[in-house]
Amino acid sequence: MALHAEDTYWHSASLAGLRVIVTGAARGVGKGVTAALLERGAAVLMVDRDPAVADVAGTFGVEGRAVPLVADLCDRSSYQRIVDEAVQTLGGIDALINNAIATNEPKVFTDITLDDFDLVFDTGPRATFFLMQAAYPALKAAGGGSIVNFGSGSGTAGQKTFGAYAGAKEAIRGISKVAALEWGKDNIRVNVVCPFAQSDGVAGWSEEFPEVYNKIVKGIPLRRIGDTQADIGPMVAFLVSSDASYLTAQTIHVDGGMGMYR
Ligand SMILES: NC(=O)c1ccc[n+]([C@@H]2O[C@H](COP(=O)([O-])OP(=O)(O)OC[C@H]3O[C@@H](n4cnc5c(N)ncnc54)[C@H](O)[C@@H]3O)[C@@H](O)[C@H]2O)c1
Repeated sequence: MALHAEDTYWHSASLAGLRVIVTGAARGVGKGVTAALLERGAAVLMVDRDPAVADVAGTFGVEGRAVPLVADLCDRSSYQRIVDEAVQTLGGIDALINNAIATNEPKVFTDITLDDFDLVFDTGPRATFFLMQAAYPALKAAGGGSIVNFGSGSGTAGQKTFGAYAGAKEAIRGISKVAALEWGKDNIRVNVVCPFAQSDGVAGWSEEFPEVYNKIVKGIPLRRIGDTQADIGPMVAFLVSSDASYLTAQTIHVDGGMGMYR
């Protein structure tokens, strides 16, 4: 029997009862991942600095399971507030998806300013690190859980004009590996996903640099750019599920086989 995308093992309750925080959930990969988790029955605290996150949550039509929270990850008090909100509204935390990041790149290395650098490091590794730290007690109290952090082929392979972004993404991988080693005893797994998908962020970049974008897409073995919900979402759903119970400290490129690693 040929296996098609519609012949799948998951169903509308395969993640029922799972309580998940997703950062950067108002658009792009975070929105697609949220949709994939919701359609499998999970409850999601959708965090974003963009107030549109409330409307986005409403469009899912899953009363009580898509809870929006406006929070700016540059604000140091946001980490604990996010965790407290998840514990209060969802009743605990089983998974944390650190997806959000903001960047002023692409810019050549010598044009990247201190403010550009701080933006990408504050929203990337700093927020990821301290949200993990804040969520740890709740994850442990739940008997363990799964953290999925987002890396990038721009970091694992390097990519011109993404100097600070690449550094921030690789910092996230380092943080993830250490937490996986320390928290394995608590049954808390930590993995990194490096996606390539048609997010709002990529759409903006592709309009600005269509030639670079088209060349990259043509070079993807699967000959298409990923879909945030249908291609990236299922990997995150797998990682937060018990199917991935023996998987930790890994980096998985969900990129159609681009092989962005050196
Ligand atoms: N899309 C891709 O192909 C691709 C490739 C490699 C890595 N990634 C990674 O995937 C993740 C998502 O990327 P994307 O393309 O969907 O990005 P995006 O720019 O489309 O979306 C990012 C989201 O994060 C939110 N955000 C930004 N700063 C915030 C802050 N200070 N506080 C709270 N929320 C904030 C934004 O409002 C937005 O909703 C990122 O970690 C990115 O590095 C994506």
